[in-house]
Amino acid sequence: MIVRRGGSADVATLAELRGIGEDQRATFASWMAAHAGTHLPFVAEVDGQVVGAAWLLVAERVPGEDSMRRRYGDVQSVLVREEHRGHGLGAALMAAILAEAGARELLHVTVHSGRRAVDFYLRNGFSHHRQILLWEPPA
Ligand SMILES: CC(C)(COP(=O)(O)OP(=O)(O)OC[C@H]1O[C@@H](n2cnc3c(N)ncnc32)[C@H](O)[C@@H]1OP(=O)(O)O)[C@@H](O)C(=O)NCCC(=O)NCCS
Repeated sequence: MIVRRGGSADVATLAELRGIGEDQRATFASWMAAHAGTHLPFVAEVDGQVVGAAWLLVAERVPGEDSMRRRYGDVQSVLVREEHRGHGLGAALMAAILAEAGARELLHVTVHSGRRAVDFYLRNGFSHHRQILLWEPPA
């Protein structure tokens, strides 16, 4: 198994892992190209096939007196194909993303977890934080 940065050559698989059909693939490819500086895909390969992916959004915080460059990350769209789960691919994707976050000196990395994946993130470097709050629109 290897984990690597994804790119334009992976667009078909990345789209499929997001449930995006062929009719929308060109639009997704354009979106990926337009967002290549901020939305970084990582892919997990087994036997040369991409079987999982995770994205790191790199976003800017407002500059402060200490620094004009205050960036943070948000992990999004983490998915390992069902038949490949439980073999550490998710953990390897998270390790690659957090290594990238460290190399880019991000202030922190957030994730909005699905209900079943909270323990997965807790095991892979994340912790609950009492000062991060969330607003959602009324139903
Ligand atoms: C969460 C997920 C990415 C983990 O990938 P993985 O390659 O199986 O991860 P690992 O092998 O490193 O770790 C597996 C652990 O994740 C747990 N897990 C968390 N969410 C899970 C889910 N939705 N389905 C299956 N297992 C899940 C497993 O129980 C397993 O725990 P265990 O080691 O105690 O048995 C994968 O289960 C998945 O794609 N789930 C569906 C999509 C999802 O929930 N994405 C995250 C939401 S933001």
